[in-house]
Amino acid sequence: MADRTWRLGVAGLGTVGGGLLQFLSEHSGFAPAGGHAVAAAVSARSRSRPRRVDISDIPWFDDPVALASSPDIDVFVELIGGSDGTAKAAVEAALAHGKPVVTANKALIAEHGLELARLAEAHGAPLLFEAAVMGGTPAVKMLREAMVGDEVMAVAGILNGTCNYILTEMEASGRSFTEVLAEAQRLGYAEADPTMDIGGFDAAHKITLLAALAFGQAPNFAAAEIEGVQAVELLDIRMARDLGYRIKLVAAALREPGGVSVRVYPALAPLNHPLSLTSGVLNALFIEGRRIGRIFIQGPGAGAGPTAAAVAADIADVMTGARRPVFQRPAETLKLFAKLDASRHSSRAYIRILVRDQPGVIAAVSETIAEAGVSIDSFLQKPVEDAGGVPIVLTTHEAPESVLRDAVERIAGLDAVVAPPRMLRIAPI
Ligand SMILES: NC(=O)c1ccc[n+]([C@@H]2O[C@H](COP(=O)([O-])OP(=O)(O)OC[C@H]3O[C@@H](n4cnc5c(N)ncnc54)[C@H](OP(=O)(O)O)[C@@H]3O)[C@@H](O)[C@H]2O)c1
Repeated sequence: MADRTWRLGVAGLGTVGGGLLQFLSEHSGFAPAGGHAVAAAVSARSRSRPRRVDISDIPWFDDPVALASSPDIDVFVELIGGSDGTAKAAVEAALAHGKPVVTANKALIAEHGLELARLAEAHGAPLLFEAAVMGGTPAVKMLREAMVGDEVMAVAGILNGTCNYILTEMEASGRSFTEVLAEAQRLGYAEADPTMDIGGFDAAHKITLLAALAFGQAPNFAAAEIEGVQAVELLDIRMARDLGYRIKLVAAALREPGGVSVRVYPALAPLNHPLSLTSGVLNALFIEGRRIGRIFIQGPGAGAGPTAAAVAADIADVMTGARRPVFQRPAETLKLFAKLDASRHSSRAYIRILVRDQPGVIAAVSETIAEAGVSIDSFLQKPVEDAGGVPIVLTTHEAPESVLRDAVERIAGLDAVVAPPRMLRIAPI
């Protein structure tokens, strides 16, 4: 085995695939098990497009599915992306031929993880996806390997660098969501169609995977509750800050009385909280184990170098023969996450209300909230230019979210309230 050459078939030569080819060209001695790995064949859409490294000597396949099935490769590396179509067909073909698959494709694994895990295990082929979550920061291996001796109670963090960059820049520069999004697109931090990122879907794919690994269940993307950052207003970023909080897009999977909740939503974290201190395109994750307690990791969640390093770590696992079930337990024993009844969630909340400047308003708001059964933790009234009214913001103690929503509806009905109130949760970790 020591002098074995592992022939990689690499499909997708964009940011991550190009990064991997560069890694392999710079680390010809990459030999975690004594043997070494080479790019034996490649595939992408356009053969003529310039690439990060010279690929003229590497055999080319027009069809990634043919590459995945080729007897000339030992490991299939899928770096195309997308939950369906070519990426899925190629991964299925490789697994059906018993070939190990390494992928960075969170959408594919979050949406088809169970059927792919069954296929992988039926054919004795590893299916590895370290790069799919947090790029180069090793969240997947931590949950799949290091945490199996404990019982995970919660995983929660910042899993989308684009949203984190937008929220960080809105606060730092005082510019609106739309302006900062346009800048992020110019800088290449956001796609031309940013829906997957700003709508929370990318973070939801990732937390779906982490939840499956953490709780030993099959990923079920359909069970994730998803809110993006599009509705976060500069006014709320400023008011939250005045109350001692920062708004982040939080992805969380929590063990709750009725099961596990998997959710993505904008939430407030105290200014000195590690999530608040995670700025720009960085990602961060808390893992809470019953015995170990809290672990916190922070690092790059994207980019050619970090992501290629994560892909290489999975290739090393294939080369060393490390074997784990795809999602912590044998695929046949995995149950799908059930969607929890949303009305049973509880949280602390931030509520922002725009009112006419008239006597008795604060008393009316306080009474209405108390009547709804919600108890106030902190309260702030502050005139803000061009806000369209006087903002009153408050944070609440923990209450069922159905009760909080009822309180917000009652407040919206008050005479002095000039716009629909805005409610955000306070981060659960
Ligand atoms: N970018 C990151 O930092 C990052 C981080 C973590 C995970 N990921 C994941 O890694 C995967 C790849 O992302 P990326 O950013 O590298 O994407 P990308 O830059 O858009 O590259 C995609 C590659 O796939 C090829 N491709 C697309 N459709 C194809 C088809 N039908 N047949 C053959 N090749 C096809 C493209 O070919 P052409 O070059 O010829 O157009 C391109 O080389 C995705 O699953 C993504 O979610 C990315």
